[in-house]
Amino acid sequence: MRTEQTPDDLPGRAFYKLMTSVVVPRPIAWVSTTSESGVDNLAPHSFFTISCTEPPIVQFTSVGRKDSLRNAEATGEFVVNLASESLQDQVNASATDYPSHVSEFDALDIGREASTTVRPPRVADSPVAVECALHSTLRLGDSTVVFGRVLNVAVDENVLKDDGLPDVTLLRPMARLGRNEWSALGEVRGIDRIPYRP
Ligand SMILES: Cc1cc2nc3c(=O)[nH]c(=O)nc-3n(C[C@H](O)[C@H](O)[C@H](O)COP(=O)(O)O)c2cc1C
Repeated sequence: MRTEQTPDDLPGRAFYKLMTSVVVPRPIAWVSTTSESGVDNLAPHSFFTISCTEPPIVQFTSVGRKDSLRNAEATGEFVVNLASESLQDQVNASATDYPSHVSEFDALDIGREASTTVRPPRVADSPVAVECALHSTLRLGDSTVVFGRVLNVAVDENVLKDDGLPDVTLLRPMARLGRNEWSALGEVRGIDRIPYRP
């Protein structure tokens, strides 16, 4: 037996809660932006993925209109920082609804460093920063999908393997689950794709 629920069965936030409990785990984009007046903003977004490979484009979704969305629209730039396990408390604290004139970097004493290609800073202690120019936005109901053309990916060389790619066991990415649940990296298995053989 299964329970079956349509959006009509669960009005309001209840269906959203169901969706975020079944689409799991979700990687967390820790999005830094700078407002037009120069306030550096930082907030986690778990509605996040790669949208296109060539050109490289990533996306995050703002549920409602928030500072990250407003700043990305106003300035055309944002950075996705990787939310690693050691930064979890700061990632969570940066989701607090600080007013626009308060920088989460300052309020939470989060170290920043200059990005290479865009104005919003990178999180200094995050091992990966994906610097983006706003590509476009897409309004969908109460949400806005923000697409960013990737201009530069800055990776801490201490997390790189010999093949030049990051070692996920060193990145230690956190993921978002349902309710107030988060998860850390579990067992990592290498599994090769199987070519079709008629
Ligand atoms: C792990 C985590 C993931 C989140 N994911 C999203 C998301 O995908 N979209 C969203 O709109 N808010 C998300 N939030 C909530 C925002 O981070 C929160 O509303 C924040 O205050 C927005 O900040 P801003 O106004 O500075 O952009 C998430 C919060 C946490 C803790």
